Amino acid sequence: MDGDAILDADKEMGEAREPRRVGFDRERRPGEGTTAEMLLAPERFSCDSPIERLMIRRAIYPGSFDPVTYGHLDVIGRAAKLFDEVIVAILKNPGKSPLFTVEERIDMLRRAVTWPNVSVDAFEGLLVEYAKRKQATVIIRGIRAVSDYEYELQMALMNRRLYPEAETIFMLPGEDYSYISSKLVKEVFSLGGSVSGLVPRFVEQRMREKFKSHAPHVVGGLNPNE
Ligand SMILES: Nc1ncnc2c1ncn2[C@@H]1O[C@H](COP(=O)(O)OP(=O)(O)O)[C@@H](O)[C@H]1O
Ligand SMILES: [Mg+2]
Repeated sequence: MDGDAILDADKEMGEAREPRRVGFDRERRPGEGTTAEMLLAPERFSCDSPIERLMIRRAIYPGSFDPVTYGHLDVIGRAAKLFDEVIVAILKNPGKSPLFTVEERIDMLRRAVTWPNVSVDAFEGLLVEYAKRKQATVIIRGIRAVSDYEYELQMALMNRRLYPEAETIFMLPGEDYSYISSKLVKEVFSLGGSVSGLVPRFVEQRMREKFKSHAPHVVGGLNPNE
């Protein structure tokens, strides 16, 4: 039986059987159908219908990713298993002066991300506005140590206030990755230390090129192998 047939059957029963409504004890809102209607023909209903939100669990993993590290990738891999879709979203933050441009960071992330349900994007402004536009109801943040927690708690509660329908989920990386940060990786690399095993090889290569073009004296001076 196709979708229309079921919808017609529903109609024919008319008042004899009140169709089960999404949301149980409240009136149906304009553009909202019965559970069966929305499951069978979701395209007929407004796209922010509760059932659509139930059908696809879309999560956003926001951050600077300057550059992507194995810590980020560990979190992304765990999130990819939990959610239907994960959007890794680079915040275009005019307040920070990043090493890599947004385009370079997108490019590196796309190369590093191999899960079919993970995509890479960038956004400006409020995260919650972006999440609403993307119809995402989960915000993922990684927590490394207690030191991350205080700031993350403030952000999560503020985001909840602005967008109560979304939940922030904190994820722990594998313990091998729990001390890695983009900042530390850049610092160590700029001083000639090895970052292999902390970022993918091609990221290391891009960092080498960046530091050569930006500050050849730093890398060349400290690392005799360069
Ligand atoms: N090694 C790691 N393990 C787990 N989470 C991490 C790691 N490195 C970064 N994160 C988390 O990934 C998210 C993005 O981090 P980052 O790129 O530094 O962006 P932000 O500028 O938002 O801190 C943050 O939630 C951060 O705590
Ligand atoms: Mg950070």
